[in-house]
Amino acid sequence: MDKELGAVQRRHWDADAARYHEDHADYLDTFFWCPERLAEAEARLLGDPTELAGRTVVEVGCGSAPCAAWLARHSSARVVGFDISMHMLRRAPQVDGLHLLQADAASLPFPEDAADVVFSSFGGYPFLSDLGSAMAEVARVLRPGGSSVIAVNHPTAWIFPDDPEELTAAIPYFQDAYLEWE
Ligand SMILES: C[S@@+](CC[C@H](N)C(=O)[O-])C[C@H]1O[C@@H](n2cnc3c(N)ncnc32)[C@H](O)[C@@H]1O
Repeated sequence: MDKELGAVQRRHWDADAARYHEDHADYLDTFFWCPERLAEAEARLLGDPTELAGRTVVEVGCGSAPCAAWLARHSSARVVGFDISMHMLRRAPQVDGLHLLQADAASLPFPEDAADVVFSSFGGYPFLSDLGSAMAEVARVLRPGGSSVIAVNHPTAWIFPDDPEELTAAIPYFQDAYLEWE
C-alpha cells in the first residue's frame, strides 16, 4: 500500500478514536459484524467458537478489539488483532488469549500459512487504495484450507446517516465528510 495513505489513515483514526467510541458506545463490548448489528453469537460466520480451540485467528482492522476480545472470551483460540491506529488499540480490553499489534492491513507482521482464520469487521478494507495487495496479504498469512470472512460496506453506504435505524439517503455521495484524510 501507498505509505502516505497508510499514514493518513492512521492519523484519521487516531484523531477519530474518541468520537467513534462515544458514537458507538452501546455496542462496542461485543462482536457485531456491522452497525446493523449482525451478532456473531447468532450468525456464527466463524463457526462454533468452541471448535476454534488451539487455532490461530487473525483480525485485521480490529480497532479497540470488540470482535477479537469477544472471540478470545468465547473460545480457546489464540486471537491476534492488527490495527493501524494506536489510539484505537489502546482502548481494547485485556483478555487472555488476545494479542494486539499496530500494523497496516497491507503489510501484516505475521508469518506465512500461520493463521487458521482471518477476519475483518469493517476494518479499513473499503478505504485501501490497493485492495488486491491487501487480499494477497490475507492469502499469505492464511494456511491452505483456512477460512476468511471480511465484512465491508457498499460504497454508497455513506449517503445514509451512520445509524442502522435511519435509512433515508441524506448525505451527498460526493461530499468529503467521510473520507479518511486530513
Ligand atoms: C470502523 S472501525 C472498525 C473497528 C472494529 N472492527 C470494530 O468493529 O469496532 C475501522 C478500523 O479499521 C482501522 N484501519 C483503517 N485503515 C486500516 C489499515 N490500512 N490497516 C489496518 N487497520 C486499518 C481503523 O484504525 C479502525 O480501527
